[in-house]
Amino acid sequence: MKKTIRDLNLKGRRVFIRVDFNVPLKDGVIGDDTRIRASLPTIQYALDAGATTVVLASHLGRPKGKPRPEMSLRPVAARTGELLGKPVAFAESVQASGSGVILLENLRFHPGEENDAAAFARQLAANADVYVNDAFGAAHRAHASVHAIVTFLPEAGAGLLMEKELRYLGEALGDPQRPFVAVLGGAKVSDKIEVIDNLLPRVDRLLIGGAMTYTFFKATGKPVGRSLVEDDKLDVARDVLARSAGRLMLPVDHVVAEEIDAGVPTETLSVDDEAVGARMGLDIGPKTIAAYRDVLRTAKTVVWNGPMGVFELDAFAAGTMAVAREVAGVQGTTIIGGGDSIAAVNKAGVAGRITHISTGGGASLEFLGGRTLPGVAVLPDA
Ligand code: 3PG
Repeated sequence: MKKTIRDLNLKGRRVFIRVDFNVPLKDGVIGDDTRIRASLPTIQYALDAGATTVVLASHLGRPKGKPRPEMSLRPVAARTGELLGKPVAFAESVQASGSGVILLENLRFHPGEENDAAAFARQLAANADVYVNDAFGAAHRAHASVHAIVTFLPEAGAGLLMEKELRYLGEALGDPQRPFVAVLGGAKVSDKIEVIDNLLPRVDRLLIGGAMTYTFFKATGKPVGRSLVEDDKLDVARDVLARSAGRLMLPVDHVVAEEIDAGVPTETLSVDDEAVGARMGLDIGPKTIAAYRDVLRTAKTVVWNGPMGVFELDAFAAGTMAVAREVAGVQGTTIIGGGDSIAAVNKAGVAGRITHISTGGGASLEFLGGRTLPGVAVLPDA
């Protein structure tokens, strides 16, 4: 267990909170403020605990060490103020002056951030007495504001969002209520292989969907047509199947089409049916949905990452939407990560029924893949 903000004395002190306010931003308009909302409890906690100054710091996008006006955090300061119900000042530099809540400009405008540079970390640390990391989404990056800074502000702890993310994901890996079911989708086996490896020995069932299915199918000699296959991962797929001890479930039927396009003719086939010809598999079929539903209905813990098909198009959305609804109906703990799965539960209108929607994309995958997150490892133990 790591120290948290609740273990720190904040009264009369300046608190530096690393947040992940890497929100979608276009022409100065924030597309989705979920990540800002997710850190409000931590900011409010610091204020209620008597902090004189709360210095917020984040990256946004990948400006590669140079100022990029379209990646300025200024609009994010305004939105944070609205959501918090009190003014949030904006500091053009990484030096905050004054009291109250202040958001620093995009840390990645400075090369020292991504280089984990001691000099830059010292500059950031000069703003405060105490360090809090609430940026779960950036915890897999060994960058100055999540890593080197702890050397200069050794009084440190996890924020409330960070704590919540680590608790839900950690319990799923370490002490899940059973049956524990993982649902993994998405395009590539290579993106998910660490997660598959780490979850296989822990889960009761691992349900596979999305284009990565076809790397497994090609590896076992099933017809794949022009479906997306990672030819250099066939051995990896065979190895996973050999170790899966029947816990891994693959689709039994699929929706196939010539093109990824709205309005194309589609057909549902058994995955053994050679009639797929030169078409592509673009969604799981109704028999697979029914089989996955039966598994999910008994689950007590579910982790879901990655869509079952090209759900952006209605013709190939049924599988992902059905999984979203089934996960939402689980009588137990449900955890979702990854932008596509989050978009899917939003589209299905069931996001409110998910126990924990992770704010970390890459970070949640690395955590589920069993990796140590540098931004977590560096925090002092409780
Ligand atoms: C994310 O959006 O996953 C985090 O904010 C990390 O961003 P990055 O992949 O640019 O480091």
